[in-house]
Amino acid sequence: MLRRPRRNRQSAAIRGMAAETHLHPRHLIFPQFVLDGSNIRSEIHSLPGIYRFSPDTLLGEIEACMNLGITNFVVFPAVADQLKDRTATYSYASDNFYLKVAREVKKRFPECCLISDVAMDPYSSDGHDGLVRDGEILNDDTLPILASMSLAQAEAGFDMLGPSDMMDGRIGYIRQALDEQGFTQTGILAYTAKYASAMYGPFRDALDSAPKSGDKKSYQMNPANKREALVEAELDVSEGADILMVKPALHYLDVIHLLKENFEQPIAAYHVSGECAMLRAACNNGWLDFERAMPETLLSIRRAGADVILTYFAKEFAMRFPHGI
Ligand code: PBG
Repeated sequence: MLRRPRRNRQSAAIRGMAAETHLHPRHLIFPQFVLDGSNIRSEIHSLPGIYRFSPDTLLGEIEACMNLGITNFVVFPAVADQLKDRTATYSYASDNFYLKVAREVKKRFPECCLISDVAMDPYSSDGHDGLVRDGEILNDDTLPILASMSLAQAEAGFDMLGPSDMMDGRIGYIRQALDEQGFTQTGILAYTAKYASAMYGPFRDALDSAPKSGDKKSYQMNPANKREALVEAELDVSEGADILMVKPALHYLDVIHLLKENFEQPIAAYHVSGECAMLRAACNNGWLDFERAMPETLLSIRRAGADVILTYFAKEFAMRFPHGI
């Protein structure tokens, strides 16, 4: 036998040289949930190891993560029910705690990359990402609300905005609003191919943001579709998106690969709450070994083509592999 592939696997040193894919904490974005109040750190039942923080405890958590080499964070607000309304007005209110937190984080840690969530659902009494009228999710009437939210977030100092709503035309609409107000350097991490997935359950528990009626299938993508992701990506790129995201990640590795092959922008993948919870549950049951399953999972998402991974395991990864794998 002239060719013996096993020769390149025979020691850690050789395997290290031959490794095709690498993952470093700098590739990760750590999602965080924040609620109003002080001294709160409440674990999310369906996502063990992940917490809702009040602004003060969140600052401590971010500092701990920065010390581990995690520099990128996306923050989601858990909003009290009495502040929710049909048009999500609290999302751009001047006393909004989420905007205050962003200011504090960027003041204390100017070197971090702080990413927002742009969508109505955390603030909407209907629990939908868009404006609801007679059971219908209105596209064009949602855009000005998303733009108001985006401007308030840019003003608060977020480095990048993350439109997660899947309304048509929102990237261009937000980009134009930002540029007109001089926020030309505020980036857009577009949730480009976001699927109507069952994997968002723990996230909706964390924010109490599940739709009050209906589902999200008229705006989030059909899990059956792959080529449609190219349509969404073309639109987002032409409208000014800086990074294209696929969500969820593990169930959509083919879509990650497709966008990576077809677009020059960095590709992000969201390893969503349900995907993390599945792995955690199996490990907590003794059915899988977290120490091996977690890095293998994240590496697989990278191998599929993700430059950037949003994952609730960011801290666990950075703690174990400060220099990457
Ligand atoms: C909604 C939003 C969702 C997630 C991020 N932004 C849930 C949804 O669409 O209902 C889910 C992320 C996760 O499950 O980790 N704007």
